[in-house]
Order: sequence, then C-alpha cells, then structure tokens
Amino acid sequence: MLDKQTQIVQKKYDRFSRFYDLLEGSMEKYKFSRWRKDLLSNLKGKILEVGVGTGKNLSYYDKNAEVIGIDLSPKMLKKAKIRLTKLNNPNITLMQMDAQKLEFKDNSFDYVVCTFVLCSVPDPVKVLREMKQVCKKKGKILMLEHMLSNYKIIAFFEHIHNPITKTLFRFNVNRKTIENINKAGLKIDKVKNLGFFDVFRRIEIINTE
Ligand SMILES: C[S@@+](CC[C@H](N)C(=O)[O-])C[C@H]1O[C@@H](n2cnc3c(N)ncnc32)[C@H](O)[C@@H]1O
Repeated sequence: MLDKQTQIVQKKYDRFSRFYDLLEGSMEKYKFSRWRKDLLSNLKGKILEVGVGTGKNLSYYDKNAEVIGIDLSPKMLKKAKIRLTKLNNPNITLMQMDAQKLEFKDNSFDYVVCTFVLCSVPDPVKVLREMKQVCKKKGKILMLEHMLSNYKIIAFFEHIHNPITKTLFRFNVNRKTIENINKAGLKIDKVKNLGFFDVFRRIEIINTE
C-alpha cells in the first residue's frame, strides 16, 4: 500500500504521461538526449533504472545489457512499453514498483541509473538508500539530475519557481540532491555540471559498501 504522498505523485504522473514527451521536447532534442547517450551507452551487465518514465533512456542501452526499468506510474510505464516494443530488445524488462521500497535482493545490480527522478519522489533519501542497497559492491550509481544551484541568484529563482512546478507537475526544482546523497551514506566519485550553470549535473558514485 502506497502512502498518501506517493499516491499523489503516482496520480500526477499518470495524468502527465500524455504530455510528458511533448513538454520536454526541445530540451530533450538539444541537451538531454546527448547526456543520456554519454551516460548509458557503454554500460554492461545488470542495470536497474529507477523511475524509467516513458522510457526515454531505453534506446541508449547496449543491446547485451540486462536492464530492468521500474516506475511508480502505470501510465508512464505504458508509454515506455510502446517504446520498448518498437525497440524490440528482449533484454529490457519493465515493472511497476515504488523506488522507496525496491523489491530486489541486496547487491543485485552492476549499475543503478536514475535520470530526473529525485526531483519527484516524495522521499529522495529513502530512494538513494534503496539504490545503494541493491547496487553491487564496487557497482556504480549514475544520475542525471537537476537540483538547487550553489549560485545564490539562481537558487533564489528556483525557490520562487518551485511551488509552480510542484503543483502542476509534482516535481521540485530546489532539491538539495548533493546533501541528500551524503545523507544516504553515499560518496560522490565524480560530478559534472551540464547545463544552466550547476543546475543540471551528472553524478557518478561507486558503491563502496
Ligand atoms: C521527471 S520523470 C523522469 C522520467 C525518466 N527517468 C526520464 O529521464 O525522462 C520522473 C519519473 O519518476 C517516477 N517516480 C516518481 N516517484 C517514484 C517512485 N516513488 N518510485 C518509482 N518511480 C517514481 C514518475 O512516475 C516519473 O515517471
């Protein structure tokens, strides 16, 4: 049984699923698609993608990688399944699951991936702890995320903007993702600013435990 906040997020994304690809169209074309390709195309082995959404990452995985994508929203997943059918990749499986309560054994995956998800989950620290748990020792946790900027003026506008994105789309633009990663007991190995100064970042973590 999902808690109230998680149910609200699920409903929002179910509703949002029809427009999601359309709304992110130009950012996807000019920025995100390149970031996704760079992050994912060389990964081998067992991969878990948390918050797979409409499946925008699916085409970038190596055909031999064994990928499981999970998402909370059945309707986002439905879109991802349509994409997967077109891709015709039998090594990708999609499942409905709450990232705050992953139903996999500990130390199961070589890579755990999440892209633009920690902004929308009700409890990002819980999700990060779960990701750490299911990632193999010396496995990697890879992320593309937008977060609260270290530049005061940008952070100011993110705080002002947040009630709008939270109400309309159920995602936050002012999450302290680096702090949350530390709270979850993870140590960042590499971080790269990708766009809008330090708002969009690529983060790599080697699971040491
Ligand atoms: C902004 S979308 C990102 C989708 C995709 N990762 C991408 O890069 O386009 C956020 C996704 O996270 C999913 N999500 C939110 N909370 C979740 C949770 N607790 N467990 C699993 N997925 C969740 C939403 O349903 C949505 O599909």
